[in-house]
Parts: sequence; structure tokens; C-alpha cells
Amino acid sequence: MSVKGKNILLGISGGIGSFKACELLRLFVKAEAHVRVVMTEAAQHFITPLTFQSLGAEEVSLDVFDPKPYSLEHVAWSDWANILVIAPCTANVIGKLANGIADEVLSTQAIAYAGPILIAPAMNVKMYNNKAVQRNITYLKSTGVHFIGPETGALASLITASGRMSEPGTIFARARQILLGRNDLKGQHVVVSAGPTREPLDPVRYISNYSSGKMGYALADAASAFGAEVTLVSGPVELAPPPGVNVVRVETALQMQDEIDKACAGADYLFMAAAVADFRPASYQKQKIKRSGESLNLTLQANPDILKSLQKNRPRKVIGFALEVENLEARAHDKLRDKRLDMIVANNPSEEGIGFGSDFNRITIIPRGGKTVRTERLPKYELAIKIIEEAINLSHAQPVPQIQPGAPGRHVPQIQRGRARGGRTYKRRP
Ligand SMILES: Cc1cc2nc3c(=O)[nH]c(=O)nc-3n(C[C@H](O)[C@H](O)[C@H](O)COP(=O)(O)O)c2cc1C
Repeated sequence: MSVKGKNILLGISGGIGSFKACELLRLFVKAEAHVRVVMTEAAQHFITPLTFQSLGAEEVSLDVFDPKPYSLEHVAWSDWANILVIAPCTANVIGKLANGIADEVLSTQAIAYAGPILIAPAMNVKMYNNKAVQRNITYLKSTGVHFIGPETGALASLITASGRMSEPGTIFARARQILLGRNDLKGQHVVVSAGPTREPLDPVRYISNYSSGKMGYALADAASAFGAEVTLVSGPVELAPPPGVNVVRVETALQMQDEIDKACAGADYLFMAAAVADFRPASYQKQKIKRSGESLNLTLQANPDILKSLQKNRPRKVIGFALEVENLEARAHDKLRDKRLDMIVANNPSEEGIGFGSDFNRITIIPRGGKTVRTERLPKYELAIKIIEEAINLSHAQPVPQIQPGAPGRHVPQIQRGRARGGRTYKRRP
């Protein structure tokens, strides 16, 4: 389930962090949610209702006694909403919610609301540390109200302390996670790679491919919605970073290998969705290559196979992607074995209206030792959720297969004697 089509009630109270609620509203609107805004009177000293209307709020409510149709039924919005997000939430509003006080429009809607509530407190550190405020927060948490932040950082008073409202992206990601209702990946570290790599020829030219990065970004976004801490190692793409995700930007395959290796230390999952260039120019020309003659010969050199090269930092579950235009499933099975993956996601980019650059795809998910799942054409975010569900369901009991020296389609070790992963000793075939 995504945020698309969901009804978001965004409450704004009178704190200096209220300007950040504009960005939060934009994130919900961009995700195609319906947003209604409820502002306290104090909030209107900091920011105007017009700002939220202009940014895409469908309605803005300011007064319990407002004679507009919605407000006649002063708690009607609380039946409409799928989630109530209060950001920023003042000490005052926290106190009212904890004590059942409904003396203006936000607290009235909130107290009448039976669905999930997410509060992003923001206040001066002395207010935040106040015993009554802390008691109110503890009480609300015990009733199932979700809290995010506050963060430690520079407050309005310019001192660095706890009390700063969480960033809009982080609040959005948490709200989406609450709406998804899944927390399976909480406490787990997921690494996702996305996009193409660029292999430079000279200061102005490079070799690359058509990968848009959309599938990898959707995976990072969805993993975050499942509660994971996500590192997205991204090649050059035109996409906004998914909210709440740590993005590491790279250009070349070698940089990607390096950053993935670092990110995978202690990670639980790797989703290798990047379209890493198989080859790079054997030499980089420091000066722009001049046009001369009718042809130019380029010598290319193989890039490392990042999945095969994962050694000591190999995450618990490694998921690869196969892009094939022929014999899709047979080749995906080969790749699954060859690269000792736990699961592979295969797709054919030559099908009309899916794949590269598109927001849609049709995929085949092949878990090692499990049942193959073939999807219909779906938005990439929906597919990302399916892929993550399948990855979560992968049996922990399935051991990673050992390399069989000389077996067809498998890596043949170049040394006389050595140790395969898992400690098995093998001999090279004569
Ligand atoms: C400049 C300024 C900044 C304020 N910032 C905050 C804040 O970040 N958090 C907070 O709890 N109160 C803050 N206050 C105090 C609240 O605005 C005040 O308690 C108000 O009554 C809250 O009303 P409300 O909860 O109905 O929005 C601030 C007041 C001023 C004048």
C-alpha cells in the first residue's frame, strides 16, 4: 500500500518549525495523497493558510465555528482521515491531547479521531525537558500515539539542543510506514543500488546505459516504509532522493563497488538493482579526444562483478536483478546460481510500456529454492513492495550454495587449491 489516494489530515500548531510543514505537505501531494490542513490560531502567526492552499492542500480549516460545510460537522474530518500528522506539535497541543482538552479546531479534530496519530514535537529544549511535557508524551505514547523526533540540532535560538522538528522527509517516511502497517524491517539495514554507472572516456564523454534508477529508488523508498534503515548507492539519475533514505552518489562502477562494499558492512539485505556497466574504457584520456580520421577504436576493460566480489561484507540476503530480452527465466536461474544469490528479479526491458524510464514494470521473482512469482504490469513502487515481501519471506534455512569448480556456467577458480565461501576446500579440475 502506498500513500497514493490516502487521506492525510495535517495539523499545524504554533511553533517556529511550522515553515517545514510546507515541504511535508508537498511530499504528500507529490505522492498523490489527499491532504487537508488544520491550523491552530497560533500557527497562523507563523504561516498563512494561503501558503498551504497554494501548495496543494484540498481544504484548510482554521476555526471550529467556520460556517463552511465541512466545519458544520466539527469533527467530520476525523472520519475522513487515514492518518493525522501534527507537525510541528507544540507543548500546548501535546498537553491538550494528553488531557482530553478540545478548545480549538486542531485539538477538537484530534480528540475525535480514532485512527493513527503521528506527532512531530518541536520546541525549545527547556520546554521539551519540562516534567509535565515529558509526562504528557509518555502518556500519549502509552495510548499508541506515534512520535517522531525531536532531533538534536540548531534550534531557533541558535543553541544546539534537543527540540528541533524532524525533517519533512523523515516525517513523511514514518507516516507512510504507519499507513503501510508493516514494521518487518525495523532495526535492519538495507542497502540498495540504483541507476546506471558512467565510465569516462575523456573529460566530456562517457559510456553508460539507459537505466533511470526508478526501480532502485522505489525499492529504497519501500524498504524505508517497512521500517528499515536504508542506504541507497546511486549512479547518476534525475530522481529526488526518497524521504528518510541515506543516499550515496557515485559515478563509475569502481566507485559503486567501493561504496556498496562499505555500506554492506553489517547490512542485512542488498538489493542490487543498479545497471552497472560491464566494461569501462581501458584508458582515460586527460584531454578531450580530438576528431581525426573516419573511425576511432576504443579498447574496453571488464568492470568487476560487484555481486561476485562481495566477500566479508556480504549481507545476510543478497537479491540480484536480471535484465534479459531472451530466455528470461532460464538466464535468471543461471545468474541466481552463478552469483550465489538468495533471490533474483528478472524483467524484459524490450516489452512495450515497461522497464527503462517507465514508472511501470512486469517482473518475475525467483527465490532460491522457492516458488517463482510472475507479476502483471504494475507501478514500480507496488513491485518494490512485492519484492521486499518476497525477500522477507526467504527462508533463512536455505544455505548459500558452494561454488562447484568447473560446473557449467559457474566460476572456475584460477588457483590450484583454495577455500570456497563457507570454508569448503576444493581442487581445480584437471
Ligand atoms: C517566536 C515563537 C516561537 C515559538 N515556538 C514554539 C515551538 O517551537 N514550540 C512550542 O511548543 N511553542 C512555541 N511557541 C509558543 C507557542 O506559540 C504558544 O505556546 C502557543 O500558545 C501555542 O499555541 P498552539 O499550541 O495552539 O498552536 C513559540 C512562540 C513564539 C512567539
